Amino acid sequence: MVSSKDIWSPSGHSNFELFANKLPEQGTLLEIGSCVGKSTVAWAEAFEKQNKKWHIHTIDLFWGIDTYIPNAEWFKLYKASGTEIRSLTGEEMLNEFKENIKGRDNITWEQVEFNNEYVCPVRPTASFFDANHNYDAVTTFLDKYGELDYIFIDDDTKDFPGTQKAIDDFLLKFPREVIRGKVCSILQK
Ligand SMILES: C[S@@+](CC[C@H](N)C(=O)[O-])C[C@H]1O[C@@H](n2cnc3c(N)ncnc32)[C@H](O)[C@@H]1O
Repeated sequence: MVSSKDIWSPSGHSNFELFANKLPEQGTLLEIGSCVGKSTVAWAEAFEKQNKKWHIHTIDLFWGIDTYIPNAEWFKLYKASGTEIRSLTGEEMLNEFKENIKGRDNITWEQVEFNNEYVCPVRPTASFFDANHNYDAVTTFLDKYGELDYIFIDDDTKDFPGTQKAIDDFLLKFPREVIRGKVCSILQK
């Protein structure tokens, strides 16, 4: 099986053990924004290491990297973080994703747009959001899944003020235990 360490990512994730440690022994994780699967596989590895029985349901548009990183501002950010910028079509992206998750039966996926109409086919216990990082997208996510006991949101950093503001607004309305880092963990109510 492919290791998450060998999977390319625009976000640079590789270890979710700290987060998996906060979760119950079993459940379903809804991941929004798998790209070619680095975070998906990293979550699977983290659950495996901790002997936790988790199903991961992951979604992405799989529209291609050039469509996803649409402007010069994003390119600047990614370059500055040392991320290798790749150009992948939607088809290449999806094929690479499928190769990367091969052999992992606890991962299911959908090619679908996340928006306020999205209906997850399984009831999630927790969700990891790593799609669009603007205010509206993160707010839509929190409106839909803010009720979950375990929420993880990537890019809670000053480079993504929309993400930070959406999280701040949510926590003002619904105070929760929170650990803020690159990935923000909003935990049980
Ligand atoms: C930062 S990348 C995710 C990185 C990935 N988690 C990893 O570890 O490599 C963001 C992904 O979100 C997807 N995306 C953006 N907006 C989306 C939406 N509205 N619905 C579904 N996927 C979306 C993009 O196609 C892209 O693959």
